[in-house]
Amino acid sequence: MATTIPVALGERGYEIEIGRGTLGEAASFLRQRRPIKHVVVVSDSTVGPLHGQRLVEALAGEGVRVDLLIVPAGETSKCVAEAEHLWHEMAKCNADRKTVVVAIGGGVVGDLAGFLAATYARGLGFFQIPTTLLAQVDSSVGGKVGINLPAAKNIVGAFWQPVGVLIDLDVLKTLPEREYRSGLAEVVKYGVIMDAAFFEYLERNVEGLIARDGEVLEYVVAQCCRLKALVVTQDEREETGIRAILNYGHTFGHAIEQVGGYGALLHGEAVAIGMVCASQLAEKMGRIPAEITKRQVELLKKLELPIAIGALDDDALLAAMRHDKKTESGRLRFVLPSRMGHVETVADVDLGLVREVLAANHL
Ligand code: NAD
Ligand code: GLY
Repeated sequence: MATTIPVALGERGYEIEIGRGTLGEAASFLRQRRPIKHVVVVSDSTVGPLHGQRLVEALAGEGVRVDLLIVPAGETSKCVAEAEHLWHEMAKCNADRKTVVVAIGGGVVGDLAGFLAATYARGLGFFQIPTTLLAQVDSSVGGKVGINLPAAKNIVGAFWQPVGVLIDLDVLKTLPEREYRSGLAEVVKYGVIMDAAFFEYLERNVEGLIARDGEVLEYVVAQCCRLKALVVTQDEREETGIRAILNYGHTFGHAIEQVGGYGALLHGEAVAIGMVCASQLAEKMGRIPAEITKRQVELLKKLELPIAIGALDDDALLAAMRHDKKTESGRLRFVLPSRMGHVETVADVDLGLVREVLAANHL
């Protein structure tokens, strides 16, 4: 039984379908939403052979003309050179205004293929088939697509909503353990920022989460998608501040990723540490009791996610935070909890308190 979650964005609205073993039915999922004469499937060098090829066969078996474009696995593919390469490949396979782009892979493939779809022939229909936990609960929903420049991550891009998101939980079986756990950090984030009952569910289901239990995963991915859809429908283009709550843990997290060197920590690992820091900051500001931080620390530890910064330099971390997208006129802004299941964006945070938090987390 599949779960269907609507993303209510009017004419840009779409559905997220979550099930198990649904990849083989991708052709009918696509066809119900768009005419599919020509499909360009974009994947990476790891996911392509594992799952992308199967998708291509399923589409070809339904009489669809299909081309498969593979990029190297990893963040470095989210770059101008790879986007340009894909534009040329689209021309070579005679893509036209009716061609549909399907991303099958993690957030890297989703962001890059979405950018391709947003830019080629002034915009093509685009589907997401996310294969990492992070992509299933976050990046495949909401329409942020783009690539990196050496100077900044995700700086060239667009809001380009998919026509549909097909989530086959079975593909998670091949996801490496560390990638899976990293995705769990984003899952925990949804509980803290929006849904106290969901956070309690996660506390009660640690074993199922670690074992990738099918029923637990189905509920967890669906609930995260529901919550993300709720945010995106209220603030599609991150203009009112509502969508910014998804950045909980990310101001500290991005700085930790950047100063530690991209690749040393996975994104979700840095977000786990960042959530602990943000929660401690909220405590120091008298916004929450210590219990709220303690529950996050305990859950993250049980999920075997890191919670300490390590040996990174505080001045470098502070400098990185100042460059974070959430600073306005050089003042530090943070998304901070006000109770379990609720956060607020707080401006003008005292730098001394941020330093105290960093100093307390070097274990
Ligand atoms: P990723 O796409 O690099 O995938 C991680 C690794 O797992 C890759 O090596 C990939 O080949 C492999 N992989 C993926 N699925 C697999 C599977 N089922 N089995 C085996 N291996 C598999 O990384 P990610 O964590 O999915 O995404 C990170 C990217 O997402 C970043 O670029 C980030 O900026 C972006 N992102 C975007 C949004 C958004 O709203 N658009 C939100 C969050 C993150
Ligand atoms: N991942 C943050 C957002 O989609 O806005």
